[in-house]
Amino acid sequence: MYLQDILFSQGFGTRRVCAGLIQQGFVTVGGVTQSDTHAEFDTDGLTFVVQGGAWPFRERAYLMLHKPAGYECSQKPGMYPSIYTLLPGPLRMRGGGAAAGVQAVGRLDQDTTGLLLLSDDGKFIHRMSSPRHHVPKVYEVTTKHPIDEQQVARLLAGVVLDDSPVAVRAAKAVLAGPCHLQMTLTEGKYHQVKRMLAAVGNRVERLHRSRIGSIELNTELPERAWRWLTPDEVAGLQGGGSR
Ligand code: URA
Repeated sequence: MYLQDILFSQGFGTRRVCAGLIQQGFVTVGGVTQSDTHAEFDTDGLTFVVQGGAWPFRERAYLMLHKPAGYECSQKPGMYPSIYTLLPGPLRMRGGGAAAGVQAVGRLDQDTTGLLLLSDDGKFIHRMSSPRHHVPKVYEVTTKHPIDEQQVARLLAGVVLDDSPVAVRAAKAVLAGPCHLQMTLTEGKYHQVKRMLAAVGNRVERLHRSRIGSIELNTELPERAWRWLTPDEVAGLQGGGSR
């Protein structure tokens, strides 16, 4: 693939901007500064450096972000900054065109923290967010009032929310402390956890998503940080990835 096209596909700007970066000597491959926009490289395992920053070529982008509170999962946020500002420019621009860049797989509320997956692979996004695929999502819920066994039983049995007569239920709900519930959902309705807790007479004080399918958010990824998913992690998610 031509170097100019490699940079373009990875989100480093229009083809003209990418050509300019190369011609001005801002791009190195294997330690060699490149000046030929049409130098050809095998993209398999390729890492190139643009203005000092190393970038691995990825046909498709799959990543996880540790979302902090106070960020909206929208490209055009209303009140708070967008989570997309936490990502480097190329991830927001790759692919070019109107629907450029990686997109979040589902959304978390502004005040919810935790695991978000992002990708530019439409099929992957669809599969991960479709209720038909039942990808389990685990939430750590801190409640205002102590949770009792009766509330847990109701969450497991199913509660009716205001926008649909069909009951929604937790796939799993485990008491982890007087005001701490670990709840697993396999669908993602608007404000679902908060509305389910309200339906059983409680209230969510803090909400954190700790797992999606086989991917767990651990302490190695601090708030606001992102990392690429490994090929094994992506395969694990696509193969069902549940636990
Ligand atoms: N349920 C909620 O109520 N909010 C979230 O952010 C995610 C799930």
